[in-house]
Amino acid sequence: MTDLDPNLAALKGRRVVLGVSGGIAAYKAVEVCRLLVDAGAHVSPILTDDAQRFIGALTFTALASEPAKTSLFGDPTDPIPHTRLGQGAHLVIVAPATAKLIGKVTAGISDDLLTATLLATTAPVLLAPAMHTEMWEHPAVVDNVKTLTERGVTFVGPDAGHLAGGDEGPGRLTTPEAIVRAAAEVLARGHDLAGTRVIVTAGGTREPIDPVRFVGNRSSGKMGHAIADAAARRGAAVTLITTSALAAESSVEIVSVTTAEEMYDAVVSRFAEQDAVVMAAAVADFRPKVIAGQKIKKHDGPPEIVLEPTPDILATLGERKEHQVLVGFAAETEHVRDHAAAKLAAKKVDLMVANDVSAPGSGFEVDTNQAVLLDSNGRAEELPLQSKTDLADAVLDRVRKALAHRGEERS
Ligand code: C5P
Repeated sequence: MTDLDPNLAALKGRRVVLGVSGGIAAYKAVEVCRLLVDAGAHVSPILTDDAQRFIGALTFTALASEPAKTSLFGDPTDPIPHTRLGQGAHLVIVAPATAKLIGKVTAGISDDLLTATLLATTAPVLLAPAMHTEMWEHPAVVDNVKTLTERGVTFVGPDAGHLAGGDEGPGRLTTPEAIVRAAAEVLARGHDLAGTRVIVTAGGTREPIDPVRFVGNRSSGKMGHAIADAAARRGAAVTLITTSALAAESSVEIVSVTTAEEMYDAVVSRFAEQDAVVMAAAVADFRPKVIAGQKIKKHDGPPEIVLEPTPDILATLGERKEHQVLVGFAAETEHVRDHAAAKLAAKKVDLMVANDVSAPGSGFEVDTNQAVLLDSNGRAEELPLQSKTDLADAVLDRVRKALAHRGEERS
């Protein structure tokens, strides 16, 4: 990596707080600090008390853009360091992030300068964990990482490899280069969707049979909510049209719907003023033709339920689209790429997120997903199994590129 690495351009002139917590990998944070400074960032180091048992604050002071801070209690020149640093930061990195640090951030505990700064900031947060494998895989840590990921915190690493004490396995701090690259990526994303209006649909629709029963599917709404949250964090004005009761970022406008028909009305009536629509919802393809007015009684025997097609929302948008970028989802159980490519063409979609919902770790209810992205130029890109939050950002990266491309075409 050189100082001129274009991938690191997003770091130039940005204020980065580099937190160091107390693990043996703390010595590698020195290199992270140097690389950040080389990339043109203004780096403010914060060391916890435990970090200082492994590495001296003076080392960071010598390399960083301002003296390393270690105490929550300021001095006359810098009376409230946690608010100055937290409010002023464009990015807060913690490398290494120990299990304790991750636990405190999750719980909102602020008992030292680093954790108080993490509470006082609204900037993106990047954590580079380092700990023994048993700790990294402990359910408490796994839960904390999941919670923080859902709150928009980005994790880089850990890698698998040699650990302190001769152990081996996942838990090793990733490389300083990988941390700095991830930092640049987080900053580049920043508010890159500011000024765009995006509709996201989520959840499975429920098509009533009678007042108590419905035809439904297993979609939880997690993928759609992850996309809505990620788009909101990236500055888009987001309308989330959802069947799910899951929470969403406070800036997201939520429209609750139940049936395909209601979702159709909610999406189509707002379509004209959107820049992009992401149809992550599992919309029922069929619904009962007749809805019984009263609960169907068991003693009348099994009812014959005749189904009829629901309106295809995405296909309607495909017909009506002008400037909008359209993203569809194809949940498949076989021939994933072929089926998804056929849907992309039939529904005039710009990007199809195709996934095999029968594969382990993918699809309904789980927090991870593995997808192939297909675009209207016939390109296919296989993405790794990753959190739905990370997949959301990967999809939005493509949406942003498509929007930029449209903008260039129109100007
Ligand atoms: O054909 P299939 O239902 O698998 O297509 C999936 C894509 O089409 C998803 O993006 C889904 O939200 C959308 N869809 C729709 N209206 C329907 C059925 C599916 O918008 N009635």
